[in-house]
Amino acid sequence: MSDYFFEELKAYAELLGIDRPEIVKCLENARRNPDTAPAYKKHFMRELRRRGLTLSELPAFGVGPSSPCDGVSPGDVLLGERKVKALALAPGSFDEHALIVGHSGSGKSFLIRHLIPQFAARGIPSWIFDPENEYKVLLRRIDPAKFLVLTPASDRDNFLQPPAGVAPQEWLGRLKNLCREVFYFRDGSINLLDGILRGLYANRGVLDGGSDYPSIADLVATLDRMEFKPGTRFSGYHESLVNRFRSLAANLEKTLSCRRGFDLAALAARTVVFRLSGMSDEIRNFYVCLKLLRLSSYMEQSLASGLRMLVVIEEAHKLFNERISSRYDLGEGMIFGSARTFRKRGIGFVYSDQVPSALPDPLLANVNARFVMRLVNGKCGWRMAQAMNLTREQADFIPLIPKRRCIFQSADYPEPVLFEVPLLTFDCVSDEEAERHSQSALATLDWEPLAGETPAAAECGKPLPGEKRRSSGAKPNKAWQEICRALAESGFLSLSELYARLGNVTPWLARKIMNEMERQALVELCPLSLGTRGNPKTFAVLTEKGAQFAGLDYDKIRLAGRGSTEHVILQNLLAETLRSAGKTVAIEHQANGKAVDVVEIREDGASAYEIELEPAHPHVVENVLRDIEAGFDEIIVVTKNQAGQNETKDKIYKAVPWEKLGRVKFKLFREFS
Ligand SMILES: Nc1ncnc2c1ncn2[C@@H]1O[C@H](COP(=O)(O)OP(=O)(O)O)[C@@H](O)[C@H]1O
Ligand SMILES: [Mg+2]
Repeated sequence: MSDYFFEELKAYAELLGIDRPEIVKCLENARRNPDTAPAYKKHFMRELRRRGLTLSELPAFGVGPSSPCDGVSPGDVLLGERKVKALALAPGSFDEHALIVGHSGSGKSFLIRHLIPQFAARGIPSWIFDPENEYKVLLRRIDPAKFLVLTPASDRDNFLQPPAGVAPQEWLGRLKNLCREVFYFRDGSINLLDGILRGLYANRGVLDGGSDYPSIADLVATLDRMEFKPGTRFSGYHESLVNRFRSLAANLEKTLSCRRGFDLAALAARTVVFRLSGMSDEIRNFYVCLKLLRLSSYMEQSLASGLRMLVVIEEAHKLFNERISSRYDLGEGMIFGSARTFRKRGIGFVYSDQVPSALPDPLLANVNARFVMRLVNGKCGWRMAQAMNLTREQADFIPLIPKRRCIFQSADYPEPVLFEVPLLTFDCVSDEEAERHSQSALATLDWEPLAGETPAAAECGKPLPGEKRRSSGAKPNKAWQEICRALAESGFLSLSELYARLGNVTPWLARKIMNEMERQALVELCPLSLGTRGNPKTFAVLTEKGAQFAGLDYDKIRLAGRGSTEHVILQNLLAETLRSAGKTVAIEHQANGKAVDVVEIREDGASAYEIELEPAHPHVVENVLRDIEAGFDEIIVVTKNQAGQNETKDKIYKAVPWEKLGRVKFKLFREFS
């Protein structure tokens, strides 16, 4: 008789009173003659029911082997409503990966947050890919010296830097696969990318062992220098590279813009939460895959056996889905292959998802530990029931599983057990606190910034079919002067206003000229979304270099305002709108020892306008408090969107004394334009 069946009988016997002679006798018989075990189980169940224990109303789940192992425990095994014992799992059950499914709110993330500190205490750190910004609370559960939260703003990782021990050629190969999978590049684009990256590596001596790695800026500069006749094959390949890498450069600018990123050894020794909130699926998949490639290359170097790390992938279907798996014409790609190769390197995945029916078969088949929480969608429940070989009544229970409860099955527990996660509470950890903690930890990590040189475009071999090589030198013409003069005159202009002034230049050509001028740092282009419908409007301003080019005195023409170009343009837009309504305004007006973004001056008083692009920043509240102190009779906080307004409102309502709140108003940018 299989052990677990006997264990189950024993659990029933315990409920009935294991010291009663007749029960002992039944158990003994069942052990000697395994064929009779099912009959004894029935007998025990009947006895239990007679005593009012409603086991029979619940689908029968096993209780697993009783041999106590001091493993991690996700919770307590239930028999009916009774907690029988702690469910103990050898950490090794996770080295062949775990899958946690359940609809949203069923308690998946809580279960993971319960498990991770237990692994950390055993010296097994986790990397958590966190799309909902909910894992920072682990700061209070894990030794802070072994815990980090990384955001796209604080992470440093140059994807063109090969990991230690991986040859540049080999790294290029892995990068190409990654890009093929996450960006859905076709062979043409991949070959073009390969040529460019090889060229960049060769130019910088990386192929000869140098460590002057190129960065994303160099890649984008090279792509920008290439030009193909529209409509040709290569122009299509080129365009998809330009789109993807430009968006990558914009979204992960802080992370990618470095020569050398953080040392992997330091990250792999810690539990790291990678914040993914706000990333598009493609950017997010690129980022996650890059991290996985790095981790795998690092772990490859030492082949100690057993589980050494966990990688938690929330919303697994975004990375592991049919769309990506159908991309492999031959063999499995990096993403799906990762389940197999990572196991060999001591890395266990914990996949979490709310729609198991969206997960491809290879993933479901390749996990050892399976956790099923409540699933209301019939298709999803059925999929899991099938994958786990559940009985009909067990499967019927899936949509009814109460919160915190979970069906578990693994090689050690072939018969599914039902367990309950303990009631957990997590103390709140604010973004600021997580940030502060990580900043001090990151300050000790080694990385190398880019020296502010201009990106180097690589020459890569012979021109490709349809390629027109653009010379790197300037080809300034009359239009350039005209553009500079128009910008100097108005301070800033939207591209459409600018094109309207150019007379006989087509918008298409004008845009090309603007791109070239931007590349040569004569103008700055700043796309701004003001919360109105349609695409963001792009504004252009003249740079100092641009003023020199046009022979103008920059100090005389520069825009009033402070902060990022975006902020300066918004200040001027706002001032312009107020002025055109006949008001007297000043930009960067000094009051109470601090500059106010825009001030409207009236005979009987003044209003302060504060433009807040980053509602989370602590200076938001500070600005308002100081403006109140300075005696403005109205302080208007202007944000770009409603979400930003809600966030600033929250903060300001908490910080400003109520009798003064009447002076604070909130407006959205679009209310002015
Ligand atoms: N073990 C638990 N202890 C206490 N509350 C829990 C527990 N599990 C779930 N909850 C409650 O359910 C909510 C949803 O849980 P969560 O783990 O975020 O679900 P999911 O990740 O499946 O969407 C939590 O915010 C919490 O209030
Ligand atoms: Mg969750």
